[in-house]
Amino acid sequence: MKVLLIGSGGRENAIAWKIVNSDSFKSSGSRLFVTLGNPGMKEYSESVDIAPDDFERLIDFAKEEKIELIVVGPEKPLALGITDEFEKKGFNVFGPRKNAAEIESSKIFAKKLMQKNNIPTAAFMEFSREKIDLAAEYLNSCSYPVVFKADGLASGKGVMIADNVTEGEEILKEFSSGSAFKESGNNFIAEEFLEGEEVSVFAVCDGTDFIVLPYSQDHKKISDGEKGKNTGGMGAVAPVRKFMTGELNEKIKTKVIIPVLDALKNEGRQYKGCLYCGLMIKDNEPYVIEFNCRFGDPETQAVLPLIESDFLELLNSAATNDLKNYKLEINDLNACCVVLASQGYPDSFETGRKISGTENVKDNCLLFHSATKNEYINDKEELFTAGGRVLSVVGISEKSIEDAVRTAYENADRISFENKYFRKDIGFRIVNKNGDSVN
Ligand code: AMP
Ligand code: GLY
Repeated sequence: MKVLLIGSGGRENAIAWKIVNSDSFKSSGSRLFVTLGNPGMKEYSESVDIAPDDFERLIDFAKEEKIELIVVGPEKPLALGITDEFEKKGFNVFGPRKNAAEIESSKIFAKKLMQKNNIPTAAFMEFSREKIDLAAEYLNSCSYPVVFKADGLASGKGVMIADNVTEGEEILKEFSSGSAFKESGNNFIAEEFLEGEEVSVFAVCDGTDFIVLPYSQDHKKISDGEKGKNTGGMGAVAPVRKFMTGELNEKIKTKVIIPVLDALKNEGRQYKGCLYCGLMIKDNEPYVIEFNCRFGDPETQAVLPLIESDFLELLNSAATNDLKNYKLEINDLNACCVVLASQGYPDSFETGRKISGTENVKDNCLLFHSATKNEYINDKEELFTAGGRVLSVVGISEKSIEDAVRTAYENADRISFENKYFRKDIGFRIVNKNGDSVN
């Protein structure tokens, strides 16, 4: 099969790796093309020098190469309608159309949809930059902490939490000046702070049926102990068994996934692709923190190694409305992804630092590139940092999640670049502090 993957980060590196390791891909004539690509996947894919939002050129390329499946990694092209454009030309696409991707591209749309359909989520208020005074008044009457979220896309960084009026005022300054989120923050919401355990749920959907992948847990804050600013995600563990009871599995389907897919369908926004449900679990009940219209990053890097059945077939079945004939098989592995970032992320950071030691990563560890680039120095190809989140180091273990965490950190230490930063406590909510398995 000829596949075109859109995107070039750590999530796409993991997707590319899993596609080429699928039995259905190994048949003759299969090729994987990736828009822009990255050094981590260049061994098993072909880089296409077309930007993910240049739909016209991408369609020409897909026609020329007779691409059979397009897999869209990031949210931006989905929000811009890449699926609609390709489908108009008869291509099969894994990823929702623009009107269904709005579940992520507008938090206000998502919150209203949940409210209308009784999907459990935090109570919220809607505000705008134009009428910032109303938000300022609200600061005096709301209870704290309170969570502010930009309506539009913000690479996972559009969420700010105020513990008191003074912090709330600082946040409103950012919204009113437009400095933080630009037009994504023209409208924003304030919502009730939810306490509990967070879990990321990927539901692969084909417009009719869906299949839930193993649960994972992300670590969104920049510092250990879930402190500091929100990031795109600093690390993830999978599977999450600790607080996920069978009863909770059912509730996630009946109270969240089925109602939201039905609600979207009733509005003519049939959902196809990965529906990411960011949930807070409290008293054995799920509450939606956010929906995303794609796989999560870095959760994907930890979840995909747990899939035993043919991954390319899963994506293709979803794209062609045939999930009912797909049987998901999961292995017994545990995975922990630690993100190595540039110092300063999620604010400003420097790039172009030389990376060394990637060749020392051991067999029980996967290394996915999030933002790196190759450059020739004295005729020798060297690897350099090229963004905020640089590498995803994924420890894999048959034994336990604790062992996967240990493996990830051992390998993270084998890689170096100047000002390398990573959280030291990935998995802290589910690992057993004694180092024994809680599975
Ligand atoms: P989001 O981009 O909406 O997933 O938010 C990023 C992170 O902010 C989440 O993963 C949570 O850790 C935190 N967060 C967002 N909304 C809430 C909320 N209502 N209550 C508590 N924490 C939240
Ligand atoms: N890791 C969170 C996200 O992908 O949005």
